[in-house]
Amino acid sequence: MPATSVIGAQWGDEGKGKIIDLITDRADVVVRFQGGANAGHTVIVDGEKFVFHLLPSGVLHPGKTNVLGNGVVIDPGTLIDEIEQFEASGRELMSRLWISGAAHCVMPYHKRVDNLREGRKAGITIGTTGRGIGPAYADKANRTGIRMWDLVDADRLRARLEANVAEVNELITRVYESDPLDVDEIFELARGWGERLAPSVRETGRQLRDDLKTSKHLFFEGAQGVMLDIDHGTYPFVTSSHCDSLGIAAGAGVSPREIGHQLGVCKAYCTRVGAGPFPSELHGEVADRLRESGSEFGATTGRPRRCGWFDVPAARYAASLCGFDGLAITKLDVMSGLGEVGLVTGYRIAGEVHEEYPVDTPMLEAAEPIVTMFAGWDEDLGDVRSYEDLPATCRAFVAEITSRVGVPWEILSVGPARDNTIMRETA
Ligand code: GDP
Ligand code: IMO
Ligand code: MG
Repeated sequence: MPATSVIGAQWGDEGKGKIIDLITDRADVVVRFQGGANAGHTVIVDGEKFVFHLLPSGVLHPGKTNVLGNGVVIDPGTLIDEIEQFEASGRELMSRLWISGAAHCVMPYHKRVDNLREGRKAGITIGTTGRGIGPAYADKANRTGIRMWDLVDADRLRARLEANVAEVNELITRVYESDPLDVDEIFELARGWGERLAPSVRETGRQLRDDLKTSKHLFFEGAQGVMLDIDHGTYPFVTSSHCDSLGIAAGAGVSPREIGHQLGVCKAYCTRVGAGPFPSELHGEVADRLRESGSEFGATTGRPRRCGWFDVPAARYAASLCGFDGLAITKLDVMSGLGEVGLVTGYRIAGEVHEEYPVDTPMLEAAEPIVTMFAGWDEDLGDVRSYEDLPATCRAFVAEITSRVGVPWEILSVGPARDNTIMRETA
């Protein structure tokens, strides 16, 4: 059976966690392939709220295997806390959680450098989550990273840490004029993490390829979203991984030809956390209403999310890059009561109209949105379970999105819980 991907089509926080949890009953294995604890995926089941940073959002389904692939950067302390919190709710996890030995670890010095760099007065501030993501991926590219296989081997861990901490202390003390880190302290901490996680560490890529051969259904859960991709997003205001479907094969260790179905998740509007261009951004009453009724505050950092209209050229760009077969459009309920609802259909840049998304960031920064307004709806959508029962104006808005983006909808989400959902029959 071909694998399915669930990818954020905007700037993250589209509701990927809800969608993965919703459809995991059809999966055998759920795989995270990139990112780290910068992700915050919210799942609400029977009124209970879970926010997953590293655990795949399929964990609430008993019997399903969950995998952290080689492309993920794992903060072992955060992962252990998350596992313990999860198991404290009475659910078993360790026997069905696999961690790639090739996944890189986020070490305390990565978080320290991330925060020191962001705190600098000079240079660009990205507004990162402070979870050490950029420095961990930088070490991976520099070939100085510590992988899970190193973490579980005390001798290798010690040798790697000695070299890394000596170097990073130079940076911390000389460039940032801050206090150095203690290698013994980090080693003791990390050795404990390694012992705790060792039983789950294995060669996940081989296992996933075997699963594909035996027709198991794999779901790949993206973190972040296309516009935050290191190559294809709004560089430098991006994260440090390939958070679109282009990252799946490398980040999981499977052939790209195995990914048979691509689901793009987008909100019926847009949000962005952190700095960087966001052409459809709204300020004032409508933005405040979206933020309040959509609870648009970061699941990882609690920061208020910037809010704007759905950006059609950006979504069309995401769809063409990833090859989405279908869309999951979330948070339609949040737009109730706005009177009119908008779509950004193009941009005006230096006096010229552009219908395509400009990938050069300064152009995007200079873009003024061209907004088309549509009639809104007032009804509470939380209990709607079929497309036909949506208000006509809401159906028209969904049709505008899907026809302009060029991808049909498969799932419409009208609330945060599993059952606040409209599934297309064939989905
Ligand atoms: P993710 O990072 O893509 O998994 O998304 P987040 O969990 O960070 O943010 C999405 C937020 O919206 C979470 O609080 C979800 O519980 C919530 N959510 C998801 N779908 C819907 C929806 O259709 N309506 C409403 N009101 N909330 C939703
Ligand atoms: P999920 O998976 C929204 C943003 C940060 C910052 C930029 C770089 O929940 O959708 P980083 O810490 O990755 O170096 O920060 O990326 N960012 C996210 N924004 N959702 C996320 O994840 C994000 N993960 C990172 O706010 O602008
Ligand atoms: Mg999130």
